[in-house]
Amino acid sequence: MSVLNDRKIVLGISGGIAAYKAAELVRLLGKAGADVHVVLSEGGARFVTPVTFQALSGNTVWTDLWDARMPNNMAHIDLGRDADAILVAPATADFIARLAHGRADDLLSTLCLARDVPLIVAPAMNRQMWESPPTRRNVDLIRADGVTVFGPAAGDQACGEVGMGRMLEAEELVELLEGYFVPKLLAGRRVVMTAGPTFEAIDPVRGITNISSGKMGYALARACAQAGAEVVLVSGPVSLPVPAGVCCVQAPSAREMRAAVFDALPGADVFIGVAAVADYRPVQTAEHKLKKSGDTLTLSLTPNPDILAEVAALEGAPFCVGFAAESRDLDAYAEGKRRSKRLPMLVGNLVRDGMGGDDNTVILYDDAGRHPLPRARKADVARGIVSHLAGLLAPRKG
Ligand code: PMT
Repeated sequence: MSVLNDRKIVLGISGGIAAYKAAELVRLLGKAGADVHVVLSEGGARFVTPVTFQALSGNTVWTDLWDARMPNNMAHIDLGRDADAILVAPATADFIARLAHGRADDLLSTLCLARDVPLIVAPAMNRQMWESPPTRRNVDLIRADGVTVFGPAAGDQACGEVGMGRMLEAEELVELLEGYFVPKLLAGRRVVMTAGPTFEAIDPVRGITNISSGKMGYALARACAQAGAEVVLVSGPVSLPVPAGVCCVQAPSAREMRAAVFDALPGADVFIGVAAVADYRPVQTAEHKLKKSGDTLTLSLTPNPDILAEVAALEGAPFCVGFAAESRDLDAYAEGKRRSKRLPMLVGNLVRDGMGGDDNTVILYDDAGRHPLPRARKADVARGIVSHLAGLLAPRKG
């Protein structure tokens, strides 16, 4: 279940072309279980209509400070009263300027001024407006006032220019908003982890790999980052977007993965091996594509380095978490791997439960025994793993 479930979010939409993205944002917030109440500025209502947002949110849409539908005429107070956050997306240069200077001449700006809940803005504007000295000053001012700023991103702009100022996509905003509400159990920790399969080349076009999708590892990287950790994700070949706030290093083969892990390891508090690393690689990789013949082809394989075992054996090793995907006898094999690699914690899953799909059923193993987690989306499983891991970490010094 998303951390946004049952949260009341007031979504302010000011007058920029990125307002069209707010429709998808409302849909995704609703899908995550949030109760969304939309407030359109006058400019916002020129780009998108209240009807769209009423249909998507299932709630009344507000535009006017003097709206007679609010019996006490206090929309600017009542709307934000029991909200968990106000998110303004898009936040135009003009809206940010008015926020910075405490203007209260329409419903949205008055609501923001009269709030006692967190305020988050997602700027959207032309790159020159974003870079202009007044906007820079205004963004500094609202940050100093405790407003959180999501984005903007660089990229193609509606005006035809390319640069900084594009509003983040709806999925990115939802991810950041979830992160905002996640308890910061790993604040100040550095986490290095692996995810995905590895690819061990036979020739320039063929190789040995496996069916790991990377979804479990990427979900865990996202959960660690949302819990406040600095995360370096060493990833095998997958096609997944890198989670917000995660530094991702591509490493296709086991040996490249090992090198990238050891590069990232200095200062790490935690190492997590989610990757399904190939245990063997071809002794030789052919320089040119192998030609078909009628004969049997025999491949000679040699063992790959065991990255997790090597990290766990280091003097002053970080807290190491292993994973094990088994097709049977999960308890015996998983606990056996944990003990043989001397790991304080291991996450066990059955191949049929966890490999490839969006859900997983895992059992956590540590010195205190086995701790099953309920079957859930990998994002939720990942949050359960982070919470257990945080409980096992030694308190931070100082
Ligand atoms: O990617 P998904 O489709 O979401 O699937 C997720 C998953 C099933 C791959 C994941 O949840 C999982 O279980 N990963 C571990 C896969 C596995 O069985 O690993 P293993 O038993 O080969 O290795 C045990 C541990 O040692 C793992 O932490 C592995 O990362 C590590 N290892 C293994 C071999 C090796 N050469 N180097 C390693 O670091």
